[in-house]
Formats: sequence, structure tokens, C-alpha cells
Amino acid sequence: MELVLEKVNKLKGNISVPGDKSISHRSLILGSIAQGETRIYNFLDSLDCLKTLECMQALGAEIDLGKNDSIKIKGKGLYGLQEAKDILDVGNSGTTIRLLTGLLSGQNFYSVLNGDSSIKRRPMKRVVEPLRSMRADIWGRENGQLTPLSIKGVRLNPLRYTLPVASAQVKSALLLAGLYATGETVIKEPLATRDHTERMLEIMQADIKIFPPEIKIKGGKELTGTDIFIPGDISSAAYFIVAASILKGSQIIINQVGVNSTRTGIIEILKKMGAKIDILNYRIKSNEPQADLKIEYSDLKGIEIGKEEIPLLIDELPLIAVVASQAQGKTVVSGAKELRVKETDRIKAIVSELKEMGVDIKEKEDGFIVEGPSRLKGAVCESYNDHRIAMSLAVAALLAEGKTVIKNSECIDISFPGFEKTLQKLINF
Ligand code: S3P
Repeated sequence: MELVLEKVNKLKGNISVPGDKSISHRSLILGSIAQGETRIYNFLDSLDCLKTLECMQALGAEIDLGKNDSIKIKGKGLYGLQEAKDILDVGNSGTTIRLLTGLLSGQNFYSVLNGDSSIKRRPMKRVVEPLRSMRADIWGRENGQLTPLSIKGVRLNPLRYTLPVASAQVKSALLLAGLYATGETVIKEPLATRDHTERMLEIMQADIKIFPPEIKIKGGKELTGTDIFIPGDISSAAYFIVAASILKGSQIIINQVGVNSTRTGIIEILKKMGAKIDILNYRIKSNEPQADLKIEYSDLKGIEIGKEEIPLLIDELPLIAVVASQAQGKTVVSGAKELRVKETDRIKAIVSELKEMGVDIKEKEDGFIVEGPSRLKGAVCESYNDHRIAMSLAVAALLAEGKTVIKNSECIDISFPGFEKTLQKLINF
């Protein structure tokens, strides 16, 4: 599929975005191993989350998609999952494979995990290595660095571990394994990453203590099912936050967006660049903060973004390159090497496509440098089958003279089915 877009005047109106992807994955996994019922509201019905759903069902979870707006899970308890009859296919979803590797290491059965061509290239050693030091029996290509991963569940030892890469997926995999360990697991994260797993474990009454930068979890304690209200995904809202900030005359409201401080890096950075973003009606639901966001066009200036800030806006970095192309002066992103091992090499991808569109952007080993502002021109762009690259380019297309074609745009459904429709609503207001 191709997404074809042209220059627009401004964005106006009021929208919501679909539920948070990270929280949706976690709600399925934790709901399935809790005791009692979990009801999930505003679940993200996207390809990635459906892969987690299918994997959990293959492991015997009782998940009822229902006819109304909620998903009902009849929890099996910590030890109620069963061996799947086939390979568990995670599709394109890094979160699914990393979290399930942790979960499955402590089961009393055998599992095999595999995914698409992107997953087959992504690093797994970061989860396999610490799990092996808990006694996990995991095998994979190149000594467990790459999928397929084959896991023979065992009784796990607890772990004391400092994360060498800032990764919420690794942290979450270890917390899930920690639920099954014979004692207390302590994880230290030198840089804060998204903390949805910890927050959900807390409301499900795990034996967890959160003292940043350390998290302690004791194994063996059953979780209790609960209602989970998932806020809109700030990573999806980000495309419209940025578009409204750089299109003259825009003013939009995005309702019910998750504003957990481990995810709001995009708002903080845009504000530092001069963006006008108001956080309205701040409230907490299911242990997660949410708010309505009001965004107005504003003149922006370039900024330096360094290592500490990266995990707080990791998925929004391709979009930062787009904003920077409209800001006055230089924007430098450093310490973002992780972008090279996402669904695609996001540094290479965004630099090459934005160059085509007329942006003054240079690749760095650990980020990029943009000199703004630039006049953008329409181009035929590759999405590299990466949803975040496709949507970031779509935002750039709204400012570009002429037509922009984004190839293989079906990948957008990985995280944001309905993206184009929501965008059209703001264009045609
Ligand atoms: C995610 C964590 C991040 C993020 C990904 C979702 C999660 O990955 O990029 O989109 O749900 O835990 P890393 O943990 O690899 O940084």
C-alpha cells in the first residue's frame, strides 16, 4: 500500500488516539497470569498487540474479546499457562518476544518464539544473558543472540542486575521472570525507562517495591486481576502534537493521552524548543496518569538532546528530525544508538528519506544533526516497513511542496490503525 499526502494549510479540531501499545501488551500478559478477572478498556487493536493476544491464547489464556468496548480475561494464576502446540509467532513485535522470553523462562514447559524478518535481526542477548544467570535454559541462533528462541522452563533463581542498556523491554522481561524466582530479584536501571510493567504489577498486588533507580520483586506471590483503563498512546499522539506545532495556524486538542513522565520526553523537548502545549484535566486511572493535550502552532528553535533524555522519547526520535527541520538553528541528537536496532535502523532510515525531502540532515553513529529551517519538497519515500518511520514521514509530507508517496504504508497498522482517518479529520475540520 502507498500513503499519498499533499501539503496542508493547518490542523484544527479535537481527536483521540488509540490505546497505549506498551500498556496493552502488558495488560494481556499480566491479566492472563493473575488470579480472577481482568477487564481491559481501550485496548489497542493493532497488529503488534494482536500478536501478544494470539501468543497468550496459544499458551492457554482465556481471553474474551467481547462485543463491547472491553476485553475480559479469566486469569489462570502464575502456574496456569500450558505448553503451546506450535511455535509462538510474535510477528514484528519486539515487546512481545522480549517480555514473553522472561515469562516463559519460569514455566514448567517448553516454548519456541519466532517472528518476522525484522525480529530475526534484532538483538536478544540483552534478555537471554541476564535470564541465563537466573538459570533459564534458552537457546537461539548465535548462542542465543538471535531468534528463533527455544526455552525450556525451569525453576529460576532470583537476580541482582544493573541494566547495561536502557530498555523497558529487558527490565520487564526480568520482572516477569522475577515473579517465578525463588526469592527477591533486584533490578537497577541507570537511566529511567517506561515503567508501565511496575505500575501494573503494583495494582495487581505483586510483592514489588519501586525505589527508582531500583525495583525489587519477590517471586511466588500470586497477582490479582483488576480493571485496566488504558490511556491513549502518547507515541501515537506525538505525530499530531508535532504536526500542529509546525503547521502555522494550527490548534488541536487530543483527549485522554497517557502522560506518564517516563513517556513525556516528546512534550518536554518540544516545550524547550518553544512549542505551545497545555496539559489539561490531569488525572490518574489504573495507576497511570492521563490528560487532554492542547497544542497550538508556535515558532521553534533547535535544541541538543542527550543520552539521559533518549529513553523518555525513544520512539519519537524520528519525529524529532521532522520538527528540527522546521526549527530555527541546529538540533543535535546524541546517545541514541538504540535507534539502530529498532524495527529498522531508524537513524539511517529517517536521514535518508528526509534528505530526499530537502532536509539538511546528517547521520551520526549515535543520532543525527539537523540544520533548520528547510523548505520541504514532496518525494517518493521508503517506510522500511517501519510504522514510526512511515508516520514521521507523513507529518513531513504535510509541509512539503507537491506530492509525497510513502511506500509500504500498511506497516502503520502495527501501532496505529486509523492513523490516516484521524489525520484527515484534523485536515478537513
Ligand atoms: C517498549 C520499550 C521500548 C520501545 C518499544 C516499546 C515497551 O523498547 O522502543 O517501542 O513496551 O517496553 P526498548 O525497551 O527496546 O527500548
